[in-house]
Amino acid sequence: MSALFQNYAKYPLTFIKGEGCKLTDDKGETYFDFGSGISVVNLGHSNPAVTKAITDQSGTLIHTSNLYSIPVQERLADKLSRRGFHGSLFFCNSGLEANEAALKLARIYGNTKYEGKRLRVLTLENSFHGRSFMTLSATGQEKIKKGFEPVADFFTHIPLNDISALKNEIDKGDVVAFMLELVQGEGGLDMIEADYLKQCAELCKKEGVLLIFDEIQTAFCRTGKFFAYEHFGVEPDIMTLAKGIANGVPMGAVMAKPEIAEYLVPGTHGTTFGGNFLACAAAESVFDTMNADGFIEAVSEKGAYMKEALENIFENSDVTVLGLGMMLGIKVPGKQKEFISKAIGNKLLLVPAGNDVVRIYAPLNISEDDIDRGLELISKTAAEMGLGG
Ligand SMILES: Cc1ncc(COP(=O)(O)O)c(C=O)c1O
Repeated sequence: MSALFQNYAKYPLTFIKGEGCKLTDDKGETYFDFGSGISVVNLGHSNPAVTKAITDQSGTLIHTSNLYSIPVQERLADKLSRRGFHGSLFFCNSGLEANEAALKLARIYGNTKYEGKRLRVLTLENSFHGRSFMTLSATGQEKIKKGFEPVADFFTHIPLNDISALKNEIDKGDVVAFMLELVQGEGGLDMIEADYLKQCAELCKKEGVLLIFDEIQTAFCRTGKFFAYEHFGVEPDIMTLAKGIANGVPMGAVMAKPEIAEYLVPGTHGTTFGGNFLACAAAESVFDTMNADGFIEAVSEKGAYMKEALENIFENSDVTVLGLGMMLGIKVPGKQKEFISKAIGNKLLLVPAGNDVVRIYAPLNISEDDIDRGLELISKTAAEMGLGG
């Protein structure tokens, strides 16, 4: 009997080594990892640049606390800010912590600016924002809240791509922020419509409602742009980041327009580990790798190639290919679990989303040969299930 909590439904696999898009298990078998640790290890396993950054930093200094200045944290903040919308940065250790900080920021902003009259936060139906009490309350999926009621009561979930639903809620006069994912990663890869997002941004700006993008799963080139919002020509007031930020070293971040970030004055928020030397060194190496010439363009091209190949594989089936850039997936109604198990049998790792979707998140720096080999395994799995191939 394991001494661990039994809160995960694990696959019967134990990996002991990873390199690029491949993982080796304890029996010496090699698997193609087209999950990337759920879009975390976007630069592949044992990435040499990240390994060197961690190794060098750990031999120098790992942690001092946020009582003192941390040069690599300042440098990383400056790089992310300039790459993004010139916001200020706060570093933490995970996605839910980033959303927690963003929501605390929205609350203190609302309380200060609107004298406590704007408490409500809007999020989308079928969204996912984390599993702390605050972020599961923000999440628009009943199954995430089940058993943990009562949850925080100041969130309202509205339908995706429905501008009148947003307007109706904002018209009530008590909304401080609207938080949303641009592609709903955990929900099943539903995507925001560009026109809707433009209208949301205009409406929120006009009504003084903060626009928060949860880019925890979409940022760091996963969708073929450094931040997914770049596809839409719309900037948020606040953005949350995690997952791919440090290629597997636990880290999260919030970027907020400086005039909003300043509401979190000393003593209002903090973290022990967040933004320490080790995590920032890893994140800086990820940032530099992804901003090297041609990296993002290559992700875009690989994503388009993979999407077309997937469409060909599933051409004569009822499977739909979903996604943006290399944030790809297939909708296989009623066959999600079976597809993933059969893929494991073929030495290919994929990740579920929602009830019917299988995510295909290859590492972003994967070679063309390895893309083709992974696609062959998807095609083989599809053929075994009578779904094309
Ligand atoms: C969009 C989004 N927000 C928040 C989270 C929560 O992140 P974490 O698991 O690091 O707390 C996730 C994790 O899947 C996510 O995809």
